[in-house]
Amino acid sequence: MERTFIAIKPDGVQRGLVGEIIRRLETKGFTLVALKLLHPSRELAEQHYAVHKERPFFSGLVDFITSGPVVAMVWQGEGVVAASRLTIGATNPLVSPPGTIRGDLGINIGRNLIHGSDAVETAQSEIALWFKEEELVSWSPTVSPWLS
Ligand code: TYD
Repeated sequence: MERTFIAIKPDGVQRGLVGEIIRRLETKGFTLVALKLLHPSRELAEQHYAVHKERPFFSGLVDFITSGPVVAMVWQGEGVVAASRLTIGATNPLVSPPGTIRGDLGINIGRNLIHGSDAVETAQSEIALWFKEEELVSWSPTVSPWLS
């Protein structure tokens, strides 16, 4: 079953939006298989955003992600990588449509509340970076006849 890595960034935690953001992913029908609150190290943040290391916003992005606690999660479900990106919305909250997490809850590209893996392969490497294998819980909801 497909899995993705999703993190509520420090602004989402500071603004008390953890429950609201998790609710949107839960009610969509995806299954939460791992969750932890942690204050990321600079090394972890730099590895996570390594693809952006030559970009002008890189050091500010790492400063921001390491500025406070982050909720790291793994969500599971058919098509969860692409579908959760639709639920999250566009990178810039100002142009992210209403109904998306970033569109409804944010205004600043540097403080866009949430990260979601952009492809299945990226999801696998991000899950391995943030979680140990034993932190992932294998389970399926028993209410599934109404969702599948
Ligand atoms: P990116 O991977 O392009 O976006 P997304 O999070 O939607 O997959 O960029 C990673 C983060 O970098 C993004 O969430 C916010 C930050 N960022 C900026 O601060 N300025 C920018 O111009 C861009 C493109 C991203």
